[in-house]
Amino acid sequence: MLSKFSTLQTTMFEYITIKTICKIILIFLLLSFLIVALELREQEFTESFEEIHNTDKYIEENIINENGIYNDSKEYTVQDTIKENAAKESTVKVDTAQDDTVKEDIVEEDTINSPLETPLTEDEKINIKYCQEKTCKFLFPYSHPEQETRANIHVRLYTQLARSLNRTLVLSNVGNSKVRACALYPFDFYYDLKAFQKNYPDIRFITQKKFFEWTKERKIKPMAQHSRMVQDDKNDSDVYLTTMGVIEGDKLGSKITNSFCLGIFNLNITDYKEFHTGIGKLDRKAMLKLVTNTLNLPEHEVIMILHLSTKEYFPKIDKVIPYSPSIINESKKVIKKLKPYIAVHWRMEKGQPNLMPKCARELVKTLKNLQRKYGITNVYLATDFPLNGNKPQSLTFHKISNFHKEAIEILGLNSRFVNRSDHIKFDTWISTDAFSQIRDDPKYESEFKNAGIHGILDKLVCVKAKYFLKGPEGCARTSSTFTNAIVRERTKFKKKYKLINIVSFW
Ligand SMILES: *[C@@H]1O[C@H](CO)[C@@H](O)[C@H](O)[C@H]1NC(C)=O
Ligand SMILES: *[C@@H]1O[C@H](CO)[C@@H](O)[C@H](O)[C@H]1NC(C)=O
Ligand SMILES: *[C@@H]1O[C@H](CO)[C@@H](O)[C@H](O)[C@H]1NC(C)=O
Ligand SMILES: *[C@@H]1O[C@H](CO)[C@@H](O)[C@H](O)[C@H]1NC(C)=O
Ligand SMILES: *[C@@H]1O[C@H](CO)[C@@H](O)[C@H](O)[C@H]1NC(C)=O
Ligand SMILES: *[C@@H]1O[C@H](CO)[C@@H](O)[C@H](O)[C@H]1NC(C)=O
Repeated sequence: MLSKFSTLQTTMFEYITIKTICKIILIFLLLSFLIVALELREQEFTESFEEIHNTDKYIEENIINENGIYNDSKEYTVQDTIKENAAKESTVKVDTAQDDTVKEDIVEEDTINSPLETPLTEDEKINIKYCQEKTCKFLFPYSHPEQETRANIHVRLYTQLARSLNRTLVLSNVGNSKVRACALYPFDFYYDLKAFQKNYPDIRFITQKKFFEWTKERKIKPMAQHSRMVQDDKNDSDVYLTTMGVIEGDKLGSKITNSFCLGIFNLNITDYKEFHTGIGKLDRKAMLKLVTNTLNLPEHEVIMILHLSTKEYFPKIDKVIPYSPSIINESKKVIKKLKPYIAVHWRMEKGQPNLMPKCARELVKTLKNLQRKYGITNVYLATDFPLNGNKPQSLTFHKISNFHKEAIEILGLNSRFVNRSDHIKFDTWISTDAFSQIRDDPKYESEFKNAGIHGILDKLVCVKAKYFLKGPEGCARTSSTFTNAIVRERTKFKKKYKLINIVSFW
């Protein structure tokens, strides 16, 4: 009896154990499926990147010429039309559920056109074409301050205002390391629109080109509000406030209208405001609230923002706006050609000119030691010295002295005759033939002669270097957002790419 009971117990126990094991196996299988599914999704994501590559191969015509004036005589090319048809919707949408979006649009148009409603005005039809709504609501920060690394921050901060005002964010043009309406190239020349949209699925975006076309098509000029962001400790306005606040702004004179290329947009600006930071630490959340509450009025179809100071107005967002697949592509080519390599970032701008030759000699010495120690011969140099033409690669770098030229000579960059066995061969975006497909195109002349797209490439190449050097005090600007951005990425990838260091001074 006892033994029988114990057998029963054992069987029951076995039964329970088997059940548990089955459960564990089932959970394990489910998890495996989930992982596979996630991997597949990731692959899909990568593939859609490739698609962008192909569709965006050609770069959109500029709407503005060298002098920042719209050239009306521009003929639409076949490619333009193809692209417009392909990207029928004016706003960029997330690629998922695209079919649904299209269907929704059709349904909406049907209801709008139903005989029970009043017929649409010309302008309402135009609005529907561009915003899928009878009224359009745009937020247009038309001039972001500073160079690309910092402009990238300013642009992404404005997504928060677009969200709180529930408006479509107009993506200004880019060029010469700036993001502003006057720039020559569309936003996707620098950035990956699709990936940007993916990071902010709830925000609607429109390119400057499409926005421009909308203002041009409209029969009645859209009403606009103009806001200017003022940093009081920089005194960049006639009026000066000690605490955060908003005041009535001045009408825009022809000087601002011209220098910011506003004349090309067919807008009726009826209201002007100035948002002041006040003195001292800015409460960014409070500023976002103030701007939102002040501008949350329905009558203006467009809210334009002029932001000149370096101050960041809204709460921090760390995630960088992703760079365009073609720049990533170019950087991959350079990295493949050079790896393993040491990268040097030398921003000469804020260095002491008379120290430049000494700095160059020190750099060569440090590099030789590193080459010996780690057996790495390739060296990539990222610099604001004008390697291509005569303009510095940084907009704030004004005086190139003979000391600078001597330093470059010591590195052997400008000399075709240096050919000693102990000579370090520096590679740059030029020597590695980056952007070879567009570099000699006259359309991009100004971009490659000044700071520009190659600065983004430099950044991407520095991130993946086995060893990264930056200029010491006196030789270079030591605190640069550009270097900080590289350092942040290198910290993230140190293990994955087996980097030797994060950053060191030479
Ligand atoms: C990417 O690079 C490959 C060669 O490595 C080239 O064939 C292709 O056209 C490039 N794509 C883009 C979008 O630049
Ligand atoms: C406008 O473009 C046409 C053709 O592209 C060119 O001939 C003309 O000089 C340009 N005008 C201005 C003002 O840039
Ligand atoms: C935001 O704007 C969209 C498009 O104009 C509109 O459909 C939606 O209802 C708005 N949302 C809110 C919360 O107002
Ligand atoms: C800005 O202007 C105010 C008033 O005119 C003045 O008191 C202040 O010192 C100025 N600040 C700077 C940084 O120039
Ligand atoms: C601008 O809008 C205001 C207010 O609706 C209107 O009175 C004015 O006539 C408009 N001006 C132009 C040039 O369209
Ligand atoms: C440099 O020297 C190498 C061999 O020592 C030679 O093959 C090469 O042509 C030389 N380059 C120049 C630019 O003189």
